Amino acid sequence: MKNFDFYNPVTILFGEGRIGEIKNKVPNGSIVMLTYGGGSIKRNGVYSQVMAALDGFKVIEFGGIEPNPRYETLMKAVEVARSERVDFIIAVGGGSVIDGTKFISAAIPFKGNDPWDILAMAGKVEINHAVPFGTVLTLPATGSEMNMFAVISRNSTTEKLSFGHPLVFPKFSVLDPTVTYSLPVNQIANGVVDAFVHVIEQYLTYPVNANIQDRWAEGLMQTLIEVGPQALANPMNYDVRANVMWSCTMAVNGLLSTGVPTDWATHTIGHELTVFFGLDHAVTLSIVLPSLMREMKGEKRLKVLQFAQRVWNIEVGTEDRKVDEAIEKTESFFQAMGIKTRLSAYGITEEQLKPIFDRFEERGWKLGEMKTITPDRVKSILLAAL
Ligand code: NZQ
Ligand code: ZN
Repeated sequence: MKNFDFYNPVTILFGEGRIGEIKNKVPNGSIVMLTYGGGSIKRNGVYSQVMAALDGFKVIEFGGIEPNPRYETLMKAVEVARSERVDFIIAVGGGSVIDGTKFISAAIPFKGNDPWDILAMAGKVEINHAVPFGTVLTLPATGSEMNMFAVISRNSTTEKLSFGHPLVFPKFSVLDPTVTYSLPVNQIANGVVDAFVHVIEQYLTYPVNANIQDRWAEGLMQTLIEVGPQALANPMNYDVRANVMWSCTMAVNGLLSTGVPTDWATHTIGHELTVFFGLDHAVTLSIVLPSLMREMKGEKRLKVLQFAQRVWNIEVGTEDRKVDEAIEKTESFFQAMGIKTRLSAYGITEEQLKPIFDRFEERGWKLGEMKTITPDRVKSILLAAL
């Protein structure tokens, strides 16, 4: 096992009926900005629960944060928050609203020239202060409610970049599984697949004798394989939704990555498919991961064999066959969740991929746990996913 630091200060309020408790978590006298997305919270009753909990606070609303939140939109929130002297933020929504809020929180007091540098120069600019915030999660998927990362898109440059900083851990997150009953089927599927791939990114590398982390990862994947289809079939089952929700949070809150190598290439490639073609985040992962596993099955062999045996219970056949079967089962799982796993199914052609190939070439990024996923291999992965 590798050396590691582990720090996670987020208070989780889990369970039905917990939203009202946010009033005890927001400091008295705060000027609160309420951030949200396109309006689902007004239709499913979450907005009124949050507003009731914030009775007595001055609340400034900022709605309209879109999926794959945009810098251009978020900077409008930063302006409002600065002029209204906002000193606490409540983000109500999925990963996009929460990620957007992390950016707003860091950008409000940012002293550098251009807040975009928080992303473009992630890790190299100083972030000394961030406006504190809490979240009410409405879509289990990204783990943003319990981690310090955010992914932000910029329209003008067709970029999707991430940053992470300990100051943008939420102060608290409310996880009430009943608020997920209103999710459309495709968003439930997206969440389950996103969480599954988060686990894979922190597991399917090479063995370092991190027994607990491996078992946590395998337990999470088995749970997602079990409850994912149940969540589609029985949309109002509380226990199923509770298990989906907590699995998604646990999949990427820092615990699984302790002491192990991590990959994240599927995400990095997937982000480009979102900015160029507007595909949902989880859809991009469903397309890239099976193809990446095929490309990387040599380097990842030992872990893929462990994954085959412990997650998919594949016991018979040659080692090569077990590896192939594990990849097939993973792809079939995404398909069973209703997600198509080929670029052509979304009308994307080889010709259209060229700007993505060029971008990887220009950036010269080498991805993966061993930095062996070169721009050429990214090209092979995407061509094989057509
Ligand atoms: O905007 P509203 O009207 O609220 O509708 C949203 C949105 O259209 C809807 N929705 C959310 N909760 C709902 C609901 N509809 C009905 N009932 C509810 N309870 O769902 C749609 C999608 O929401 P979004 O927040 O975009 O989805 P998700 O949570 O999947 O977030 C995706 C974003 O997170 C980033 C992705 O790149 C993407 O930008 N990620 C963030 C990560 C992190 N911070 O650690 C890691 C992830 O890998 C990911 O990259
Ligand atoms: Zn993800």
